Amino acid sequence: MTCDLSTDLGPLGLANPVMNASGTFGYGDEWPRLCNTAVLGAIVTKTLTLEPRAGNPPPRLQETPSGLLNSIGLQNVGVTAFLAEHLSALRALRPPVIASVGGASAEEFAAVVERLEAGALEAYELNVSCPNVAQGGLSFGRSPGETARVVRGVRRVTQRPLFVKLTPNVTDIVAIGRAALDEGATGLTAVNTFLGMEIDLERSRPRFGRVGAGLSGPAIRPLALYRIWELARSLDCPLIGAGGIVTARDAAAFMMAGATAVQVGTATLRDPARPAALVTELATFAEARGLARIRDLVASLEGLRDVP
Ligand SMILES: Cc1cc2nc3c(=O)[nH]c(=O)nc-3n(C[C@H](O)[C@H](O)[C@H](O)COP(=O)(O)O)c2cc1C
Repeated sequence: MTCDLSTDLGPLGLANPVMNASGTFGYGDEWPRLCNTAVLGAIVTKTLTLEPRAGNPPPRLQETPSGLLNSIGLQNVGVTAFLAEHLSALRALRPPVIASVGGASAEEFAAVVERLEAGALEAYELNVSCPNVAQGGLSFGRSPGETARVVRGVRRVTQRPLFVKLTPNVTDIVAIGRAALDEGATGLTAVNTFLGMEIDLERSRPRFGRVGAGLSGPAIRPLALYRIWELARSLDCPLIGAGGIVTARDAAAFMMAGATAVQVGTATLRDPARPAALVTELATFAEARGLARIRDLVASLEGLRDVP
């Protein structure tokens, strides 16, 4: 029996639940050489801001015994160059495109989306882990009020599906997710990287210029999975799971815990073809279990909504 891999994120229908995670796939347009992008459920761009950004000075990456630390700092070409130089190649690939959007203020988020409307992309993912300049650099996503302000501003300029990508660096991720949904977000992506740091012992200095860096990869998978479970049992909306996903079993666990789709990030840096391979592996996994539709896996975890 073949398994129907199609799934829906609210109004956005996908051929299958697998997409790349923002920032690990460039703008998507250079990837056909490395990965069969046509088979992906969707492609997510690197986070785009209004102006081009150079990002943080090096070092920007460090492998640890348990995960990858990054401090890239939102390096991107800016929305104008994205529309002029990357979008047509990206559009030529088959999957729907989700633009990841960032900003230093709620107004910048809305301005970026307003510009992107000309590109007729299928959806947006708001990266609310960006530092909020008016709040001393604390990320928007650490405050329900600031998250709400970002979503409210963006909702004024678009009717397209809107996913808010949550930071796990909060005590109550459900409260942030609820604030986003109350302002008209279509669904939530969880999670972005976990804040960590590393020390250069020889120099007695933090390894990264900004001290804090984001941990990703298989080390965070159980942490991310728990966030999806927390969101799924409290909120009724499409969820996109991210965090350490490498194999079909990883993806299936996120789906059982409530995710409708999944993103592959750090694993792509090691093997660029991983997201595409995951599509095939997920089908094999589902068929071995006799599943006719992959959507039957979503939130199928026993007692998901019963646990106190
Ligand atoms: C090198 C690198 C760059 C990233 N850049 C972005 C970004 O631009 N926007 C964003 O929302 N998330 C970004 N992320 C976070 C990933 O999209 C993802 O949420 C996180 O890494 C967890 O998934 P993973 O463990 O599969 O990597 C980045 C992660 C890495 C490792």
